[in-house]
Amino acid sequence: MPGELGAVVLAAGRGERLGGAVPKAFVPLGGRPLLLYSLETFARCPWVGELIAVISPEDEELFRSRVEPHLHLPERVELKVAHGGEHRQDSALLGVRLSRSRWVAVHDAARPFFSQDLLKALWETAREHRAAVPVLPVRESLHELGEDGSLRRPVDRERVCTAQTPQVFERELLWRVLEEARRRGERFTDETGAVLALSDCRPRTVSGEEPNLKITTPWDLQAAEAWLRAGLLEVDLPSSHR
Ligand code: CTP
Ligand code: MG
Repeated sequence: MPGELGAVVLAAGRGERLGGAVPKAFVPLGGRPLLLYSLETFARCPWVGELIAVISPEDEELFRSRVEPHLHLPERVELKVAHGGEHRQDSALLGVRLSRSRWVAVHDAARPFFSQDLLKALWETAREHRAAVPVLPVRESLHELGEDGSLRRPVDRERVCTAQTPQVFERELLWRVLEEARRRGERFTDETGAVLALSDCRPRTVSGEEPNLKITTPWDLQAAEAWLRAGLLEVDLPSSHR
């Protein structure tokens, strides 16, 4: 059904590892603020009816001047702005609390390049299994670290994977789990971690995408710029941004 999915886009971080004068979500990538990429991709998916941008209160002005005027929202999409919290998980809860959709996709604004096809696969899987997460296999060797910095034992990489966003959940499930994590004072690095630890739901995996990188360091930003310049990505932004 159209408009059943709400997108919670987390953009309230400071981007300390990226450095620079502008908060990460507003850093220009190909001349457009990073946050605009994922908001536009969500807005173009026919199942999305709600966009919740979670930003820092300090960035309200940046959002109103640099992102909102350039966002092309179809009529079916309602835009909401939530103020984030101290940690990523706080921001996720503050965003999910605002959602009125039956399903929610939680996404890091730091990942500009996920595709509509990926969201579709996640959405279809989550509708059947309550939760879906994009994952990639681990390529490098993995070893457990000891406290003194020496290595303790190898970890079988076939048994683990890395998780990307967007991650799609039944909203009621995710909301309950995030409220519970807050009550307990437990923190997870993504929503799937909280769902695994605090519910009996076992999220299903969908193949992640290699270009769906998380921009963390200046090197990542330069790589993303280079991919764009080389035409390696089909970024589908309205022509007024070109
Ligand atoms: N995020 C958020 N609220 C926070 C912290 C992070 O909404 N309190 C968001 C970030 O804006 C980002 C995503 O969560 O889109 C993933 O976090 P990360 O890549 O760590 O971004 P930052 O926290 O901004 O970067 P850093 O840790 O380098 O400061
Ligand atoms: Mg961070």
